[in-house]
Amino acid sequence: MSKKVRFAIIGGGMIADFHARAMAEISDIELVGVYEPAAKQAEKFSEKFSIQAFESYDKLLESENIDAVSICTPSGLHASQAILAMQHGKHVVMEKPMAITSEDARMIVDLSRQTGLKVCVISQFRFSPAIQRVKQEIEKGSFGKVVTASLAMNYYRTEEYYNSSDWKGTWAMDGGGALMNQGIHGVDILQYLMGRVSWVMASMDTMTRPIETEDMVVAIMKFQNGALGTLQASTTCWPGYQRRTEICGDKGSIVLEEDRILKWDLPTAYEESNQAEKALHATSDPKNISMENHKVQLEDMARAILLDKTPIVDAVEGKKSVDIILSIYKSARTGQKVDV
Ligand SMILES: NC(=O)c1ccc[n+]([C@@H]2O[C@H](COP(=O)([O-])OP(=O)(O)OC[C@H]3O[C@@H](n4cnc5c(N)ncnc54)[C@H](O)[C@@H]3O)[C@@H](O)[C@H]2O)c1
Repeated sequence: MSKKVRFAIIGGGMIADFHARAMAEISDIELVGVYEPAAKQAEKFSEKFSIQAFESYDKLLESENIDAVSICTPSGLHASQAILAMQHGKHVVMEKPMAITSEDARMIVDLSRQTGLKVCVISQFRFSPAIQRVKQEIEKGSFGKVVTASLAMNYYRTEEYYNSSDWKGTWAMDGGGALMNQGIHGVDILQYLMGRVSWVMASMDTMTRPIETEDMVVAIMKFQNGALGTLQASTTCWPGYQRRTEICGDKGSIVLEEDRILKWDLPTAYEESNQAEKALHATSDPKNISMENHKVQLEDMARAILLDKTPIVDAVEGKKSVDIILSIYKSARTGQKVDV
């Protein structure tokens, strides 16, 4: 392999632009190509980043000048495209969710193990300084016994958001609604901070959005560490509130609003000035996110490939959120408590 990891992006839509801009700032990565089936979009994207537009995914995978692909397509395509890429010997970065069924996620885990090819699942919010700091305090025991974690993502997405694409809000291509698309970030944060989930009980509904999938879901969850938690995800709460996370223990508690610490009732001191004054948040606009955390994960993936290490969020780690979400859907459909 050449010294830099040569990447191609699959799907040249909204999030692909974040990947391409982040890659341009990473010295270990060279972005060389894109495959986007919409001809005008392909041309625009390839011109913007001065890269080759491939005429098909097969042609791109046959290229020996590509070491890794970054999959930025509708969620229902992620798994099959990742599997095909690995069958062609390419490392894979995939946007969340890595798959919309546990079976597909399992196939990716197995294939990565069998081939030694690296898989990185984008879960960028866990890398924010605030979440990292909370994680350290949990590991240090500053909360005492953690008894509860609750996370609410009462977001808002316009009708235009759903109408402007043919895949959002569909079971086949989005894999779900407010939970699988937006709430997955909250699920990742919860399971990253709190550890494994034992069981879930949930209810969901499609309240106002003209979509197949849910626009509102509420779940209760039991963590293996003994704590009880709640999770709420919506895309129909106007104007859209910032993600609110509360973690409480018998010796200390915290409250976060999006990636900003609002209340710090822990024995250790916290430097407020460390926080960005105007943190971006995707409460009502999916584009209003920072590229910085994507950059952290892409840099980590490039190092993992070059130094033969495991990416921080690999396929095993990415599968955890998918399994929790699918258990929540199962519980909401059956009215039963579901083991994860
Ligand atoms: N990490 C995040 O914060 C974040 C934010 C937004 C979206 N996403 C994820 O990124 C993915 C894409 O979302 P988006 O908002 O960019 O969607 P988008 O609709 O803007 O872009 C998807 C692109 O994929 C292209 N495409 C469709 N079929 C394809 C195929 N077979 N091969 C290659 N390209 C194909 C479409 O033409 C489109 O340009 C989704 O899975 C979504 O969940 C993640």
